[in-house]
Amino acid sequence: MVKTKTIFVCQSCGMQSSKWQGKCANCESWNSYVEEAFEPSPEKRAAHVFTDEPVLLTALSKEDEERASTDILELDRVLGGGLVKGSVTLLGGDPGIGKSTLSLQMAFSLAKKGSKVLYISGEESIQQTKLRSKRLQEQDGKNIYIVNQVDLTVILSYLNKMKLDFVVIDSIQVLFNPDLTSTPGSVSQVRECSATLTNIAKSKGISLLIIGHVTKDGMLAGPRVMEHIVDTVLYFEGERYSTYRILRSVKNRFGSTNEIGVFEMTAGGLIEVNNPSVIFLSERAQNSSGSVVVPIIEGTRPILVEIQGLVSRASFGMVRQKAQGFDGNRLALLVAVLEKRLGLNLYDKDIFLNVVGGVKIMDPAADLAVTIAIASALLDKPVSFETVVLGEVGLSAEVRSVSQIQTRINEAEKLGFKKCIIPRNNLKSKVELTSKNMEIIPVETVKEAKDILERP
Ligand code: TYD
Ligand code: MG
Repeated sequence: MVKTKTIFVCQSCGMQSSKWQGKCANCESWNSYVEEAFEPSPEKRAAHVFTDEPVLLTALSKEDEERASTDILELDRVLGGGLVKGSVTLLGGDPGIGKSTLSLQMAFSLAKKGSKVLYISGEESIQQTKLRSKRLQEQDGKNIYIVNQVDLTVILSYLNKMKLDFVVIDSIQVLFNPDLTSTPGSVSQVRECSATLTNIAKSKGISLLIIGHVTKDGMLAGPRVMEHIVDTVLYFEGERYSTYRILRSVKNRFGSTNEIGVFEMTAGGLIEVNNPSVIFLSERAQNSSGSVVVPIIEGTRPILVEIQGLVSRASFGMVRQKAQGFDGNRLALLVAVLEKRLGLNLYDKDIFLNVVGGVKIMDPAADLAVTIAIASALLDKPVSFETVVLGEVGLSAEVRSVSQIQTRINEAEKLGFKKCIIPRNNLKSKVELTSKNMEIIPVETVKEAKDILERP
C-alpha cells in the first residue's frame, strides 16, 4: 500500500514544515499549521509561457495595454485608470463588506459597454445573485452569465469555450481542484486554483476578478499566498458600524499603489463618494483647540488621523497623563520637551491625548502633531482647519525628517488639506517634493512649528 505523505502548511503565509508548529517561524502567526496531503509545488507546473517567441521591446506598441473604463470613477482610479485586458485582480476584504456587490456592479458596468461577462458564484445561489442585481436596479443584463460552480475543471471549460471578456470568481476560498486532496480554502487549493486561473486568463486575454476573504487575524487560507500571482491586489475595508467603505490598492502592476476609492453602501448598492475628506474628518469640530491632523503610515498605507489633546489644571497635586492610541512613555517625553525647551507650564496639569477612530499610532512621524495638539490645548489656540502636521521630535525639540513624505502629502492633498508642516530636513533629499494644491511649510524646531500654527 502506498503511504500518503502529509505535510504541515501555515494557513496564513503558506510556509511548509514536516512537523506541526505552534507558532509559524516565518510569519509568526499562532496555531496556523494544518496537516495537508503533500502535493508537488504548483508553481512548477504552472510555469507556462504566455508568448511563444521573444519579441523586440521597441516593436511593442503602447496600445498593447488595453484599458476598459468601468464607469465607476473611484474604482477606475484605484485600478490605475481602468481595467487592463487580461489582467488578474484580487479583491480582498472581510465577509459582508461588499465585495460581491462591488463585483456585480462592475460586471454590469462592463456588460453595458459590450463585454461578455461570466459571474461564477460559488457562495450564493443564482437566485441570490439575481435578487442582488434587483436591489442594484440593474435591468440590462443581456451580456451577463451567472453560474453556481466550485469545481475548477468545469470553470476552466467555461473559460475555454465561452469567449469571455470579464470573469468574476466569488470566491476563491470555495473553489477546488479535484486533483488535489486538500479541502477548499486551504493554502494548496487557493494557490493552485489561482495559478491555473491566472494562466488561462493571460493566454485568452480574459480580465479576471478574484474575490478572497481575509479575517482580521489572517487565519483563513490567505489571499496573502496569491498576492504574488495576481497583477493587482485591492482591499475593501471599512468600519463595522459605518456605511462608508474604502477600496485600496496595495499592489498594482498597471498603476500606482496606495490609491484609495471611497464608497457608501446604500439600499441600492455602493455609490461613489467624491469628497472623502468630508467623511473622514466629518466629526471634527472647526476651530477647536487641541485638534491636529497627521498623515501616518500604517504598514504600507497612509491614513489621516485626528489627534486630540486636552490640558486641564490638576487637582490635589496629583497630575495625570493618559494617552489613548499613543504610547504613554512617548507622551511623557514630548510633554517634557514642551516644558523644558519651549517653557510651557505643564507641570501642574492633567494631560489627555486621544487618537480618534481607535487607531493605534506607532509611527514617529506623529510626534510633532502630538506636541502641537498639547500646546494648542494649553494655549487654547486652534490649529488652522486645513493644516496637517508631520515630523518626529527629538529631545532638543528639533524636528526630524520622516519617511515616505510624498505618500503622506499626497494622501493629505487627496483629502482636501491645503497646508502641510514638514521637517526642513526632508527638503534636503534629492527627490523633489511635488504637490499641486498644497502649501508646504518646512520647520526646524517645535517652537517654529508652534509659531506658524498661531498665525490667524
Ligand atoms: P456583500 O457584497 O454580500 O458582501 P461580501 O461579498 O463582501 O461578503 O454585501 C453584504 C452587505 O451589504 C450586506 O450586509 C447587505 C449590504 N447591502 C446593502 O446594504 N445594499 C445593497 O444594495 C446590497 C446589494 C447589499
Ligand atoms: Mg460575497
